[in-house]
Amino acid sequence: MSRVFVARAIAGNALQRLTAAGHEVEVWPGNLPPHPIELRDAVADADGLLSMLTERLDAALLDAAPQLKVIANYAVGFDNVDLAATAARGIAVGVTPDVLTDATADLTFALLLAAARRLPEAQQAVIQGRWRTFEPRGWLGASVHGASIAIVGARGRIGGAVARRARGFDMEVIPVNRGDDLHAALARADFVSLHTPLTPRTRHLIDDDALAATKPGAILVNTGRGGLVDQDALARALREGRLRAAALDVTDPEPLPPDDPLLAAPNLIVLPHIGSATHQAREAMAEMAVDNLLAGLADEPLPYPAPQR
Ligand code: GLV
Ligand code: GLV
Repeated sequence: MSRVFVARAIAGNALQRLTAAGHEVEVWPGNLPPHPIELRDAVADADGLLSMLTERLDAALLDAAPQLKVIANYAVGFDNVDLAATAARGIAVGVTPDVLTDATADLTFALLLAAARRLPEAQQAVIQGRWRTFEPRGWLGASVHGASIAIVGARGRIGGAVARRARGFDMEVIPVNRGDDLHAALARADFVSLHTPLTPRTRHLIDDDALAATKPGAILVNTGRGGLVDQDALARALREGRLRAAALDVTDPEPLPPDDPLLAAPNLIVLPHIGSATHQAREAMAEMAVDNLLAGLADEPLPYPAPQR
């Protein structure tokens, strides 16, 4: 029998397959993640760990988990896991790809459309009783149909799914992959959507220089990772009106402190990291995470391992 620590209650009933296989499962009872010290205690005798992107799994944490064989990260991303440290300790790392691709691409388009057509502002005007009549010059937004969109990380699953949606809107897709000229793409795109993993190379990919190169009046959408964007630079670009709007599902940190200057910037939509938050996607992610745990605990190769970069 093995012991599995689950860092937060998850959707669906997948964990029952662990207990049915004879494993002991402990689910962290809080709605907030375990504090790093609490996590360290919780993994002290764990053979398996089901982690969220909120758990920072670095060498110090792994040193506190001498029995740990497998980490099932409940996400497609794994920038929270130090893969060099897990490899050095022979710990397998799994992720949950594919099943959240369409949910995340749908949310990307929801954000893109909401920012382009100013939905949050328009809704507030109605709810607050400020809207009085059909306004021929009111609420003018950006056209999505026929516009151009730079998709950063276009070869990835989610980038590809966003490209398919964009083509459905008759948009011109400008794919940006590793090695391509990002600034040249930014200069001609009406929309920019980020889908590249966060690595040391992509941290602050969208910085002052990138925003200076961006087509004036463009709209930035980020459903990838907050760290892809230099948020001080983004706040400046929004305040100066160089960007028409930004729509973010991810920030750095999450959540932003309420007094973060970015939150006071104009034309900003921020969501609480809900890209994969459909019943279907989150339950499918749970099944994959459990498949990874069952394999890892049985010393078998994981069905959905974190890719090596
Ligand atoms: C969510 O951000 C994920 O990586 O699955
Ligand atoms: C708008 O509602 C229109 O009919 O043009």
